[in-house]
Amino acid sequence: MLINNSIEKKDLVYITLKASSAFKTLSQKKILITGGAGFLGYYLVKSILFWNEVHSSQKIFVTVLDNFMLGEPPWIQELKQNPFFSLLKKNLITSPLNCNQEFNYIIHAASIASPVFYRKHQLETMDANIIGLRRVLEYAQRNKINGVLFFSSSEIYGDPPYDKIPTSENYRGNVSCIGPRACYDESKRYGETLCYVFANRYNIPIKIVRPFNNYGPGMKINDGRILADFSRAALENKNIIIHSDGSPTRTYCYVADAIIGYFLALIKGNAADPYNIGLAKPEISVLEVAKLVQKLAKKKFSYSGSVIEMKSNDSEFLIDNPNRRCPDISKAKKELGFSPAVSITQGVSQTLDWYKKMYYSK
Ligand SMILES: NC(=O)c1ccc[n+]([C@@H]2O[C@H](COP(=O)([O-])OP(=O)(O)OC[C@H]3O[C@@H](n4cnc5c(N)ncnc54)[C@H](O)[C@@H]3O)[C@@H](O)[C@H]2O)c1
Repeated sequence: MLINNSIEKKDLVYITLKASSAFKTLSQKKILITGGAGFLGYYLVKSILFWNEVHSSQKIFVTVLDNFMLGEPPWIQELKQNPFFSLLKKNLITSPLNCNQEFNYIIHAASIASPVFYRKHQLETMDANIIGLRRVLEYAQRNKINGVLFFSSSEIYGDPPYDKIPTSENYRGNVSCIGPRACYDESKRYGETLCYVFANRYNIPIKIVRPFNNYGPGMKINDGRILADFSRAALENKNIIIHSDGSPTRTYCYVADAIIGYFLALIKGNAADPYNIGLAKPEISVLEVAKLVQKLAKKKFSYSGSVIEMKSNDSEFLIDNPNRRCPDISKAKKELGFSPAVSITQGVSQTLDWYKKMYYSK
């Protein structure tokens, strides 16, 4: 398997150690990852293949199903020679899952996560979260399957009032069913309901995670999410542009920590019982993130740009954008043993180094 640099190596060691109980359960099993060519797929897939290299008697077989709707990433090509990896290039909506191929676990990550792109592909995003999920659940119903994981989102909480911050899983949400973000938020909400009904009606172990702002290696530099945008600006020595007053706050979870949470939820989670997966603190503003990228890039690459506020050309850019997002992760800690440990400074630093290596060193 191709490990691109020392950051990836360190992350894959970290993931496979901290989620080793889950990897052991997956050994000798076949796992399908829909949307596995996306950002989270990068480490979901690579950590499985890395595990296989180290544990020769506990191999896991991984299949990625993806329609490459935003392009085929080069790293997928590089894995094609790996005997434990296979690729199904298809659209989950138009081509149902083939029952000849037997999977023990399915991770349903197909959707579009970046607001910039899901707003351009609203129907496709809804279809992936509703019709695509239904196809996965019907497959799980027909075949004896050990577990399904549905990627919901912290967006199902919408814009919580301040007394619901940090937000726990039992908060029911403040979400608009119309508007530019509704295609994403509401289809994730419906997706959770679909999981709940299938899990209870057919007794299928369907697990649900609600990711809170993941970032790091694997996210394409033109993905449109802020850490990709800010890193690109820094690496091209351009000003870092903020399309708001910089005040909305979030916590940001480094991808290696998040991936551990997803594997643990798949194996140890309760059925139809969602888990917040994210970093509990610090909750920091967009402006603070920009300044952190600026400071680290200055130190690493003598970056000399400024942080600038500029209204987006997109008049709907800020509509329904939550003011605060911060998870209560005590349930995932207690029930899954989830314990994220990568600080925002370390994570952003590694992210900058990874982007530099992957996109700017030829
Ligand atoms: N990354 C985060 O911080 C975050 C936060 C909340 C929720 N999520 C959810 O986690 C999942 C994975 O996120 P990500 O960041 O990797 O997303 P991503 O947008 O980077 O990747 C999604 C992948 O799904 C594929 N896809 C979309 N529709 C498809 C279809 N019909 N058939 C086959 N493939 C299809 C895309 O081609 C893409 O490769 C998504 O469901 C997302 O909504 C992620």
